Amino acid sequence: MNDFVIETKQLTKIYGEQTAVSKVNLHVKKGRIYGLLGRNGAGKTTIMKMVLGLTSITSGEVQLFGKNIRGQEKRIYPRIGAIIETPGFYPNLTGTENLEIFAKLRGTSRPDAVKNALEVVGLPYKDKKLFSKYSLGMKQRLGIANAIMHDPELLILDEPINGLDPIGIAEIRKFLQDLSKERGKTILISSHILSEIDLLADDIGIIHEGNLLEESSMDELRKKNQKYVLFRVSSTATAARILEQKCGGVKYRIEDDNVMRIYDMDIDLSMVNQAFITNNIGVYESSVCDESLEDYFKEITGGVGIA
Ligand SMILES: Nc1ncnc2c1ncn2[C@@H]1O[C@H](COP(=O)(O)OP(=O)(O)OP(=O)(O)O)[C@@H](O)[C@H]1O
Ligand SMILES: [Mg+2]
Repeated sequence: MNDFVIETKQLTKIYGEQTAVSKVNLHVKKGRIYGLLGRNGAGKTTIMKMVLGLTSITSGEVQLFGKNIRGQEKRIYPRIGAIIETPGFYPNLTGTENLEIFAKLRGTSRPDAVKNALEVVGLPYKDKKLFSKYSLGMKQRLGIANAIMHDPELLILDEPINGLDPIGIAEIRKFLQDLSKERGKTILISSHILSEIDLLADDIGIIHEGNLLEESSMDELRKKNQKYVLFRVSSTATAARILEQKCGGVKYRIEDDNVMRIYDMDIDLSMVNQAFITNNIGVYESSVCDESLEDYFKEITGGVGIA
């Protein structure tokens, strides 16, 4: 028995000729926030839909709460709250009326469930505004309220902060962190925004063209980030040639015509500096930097990176 709330094994989805998700082994631990990070079209929504039984699985399997979902749907799905794409709210009803309908359909028993859920996401209870008059951010909030109304153990939220303003994002972030830290809820969230996952998640899975390239805790990932020396020079092509002459085998990367990075922290920097200057290379800056998460993703996704 392990403590994974979600575990996928070789999970695969093929649409016609296209493999949207390829042999993904996801491990979402109890009580943690897991961020699924990937660019548009990477396969995030497809993975979530398969986990939720909203689309068929081509091959592989999904385990929820330690059990294969096949045949267990009725027992398992009431323990989950989800937002996948836009929930089907009625435009000509208010937010409260919409949630009351969903609460009834689900058989949510707590009488104050709707009121509480609206309060948590910062929407008014029993006001007159129709859903069709909501802003994008308000619609997102109502979606989140709907997902948490029945107090589920697991939340699966597909890009829940899309369309929220910065204050709204910070509020939702705080609220999701409280849910996980104080109430032990498990949360799987997707995003194409690296900084957001960085601020919110405990664990991360990086999905690129249907493949899970990396899965680790955010702490481990941050440790992996290397230090480097950034050189801003008049010509990186010439500088690279000199560098290879003086320190053969040194690890470096050219970023553009003027910026290069040297990853070898043991080299004699003053000697490098001197060699550049002697060879008529203008040195405008040299500083020790930490490789950012963004750089790391650029590296593992083959240069395309993630916003
Ligand atoms: N119903 C479908 N039929 C055919 N192809 C599909 C279908 N749904 C998704 N795809 C394809 O599968 C791939 C993964 O799509 P998916 O929606 O899972 O990506 P995503 O990571 O959620 O992207 P986004 O950030 O844009 O939401 C894409 O290439 C997409 O075109
Ligand atoms: Mg998507």
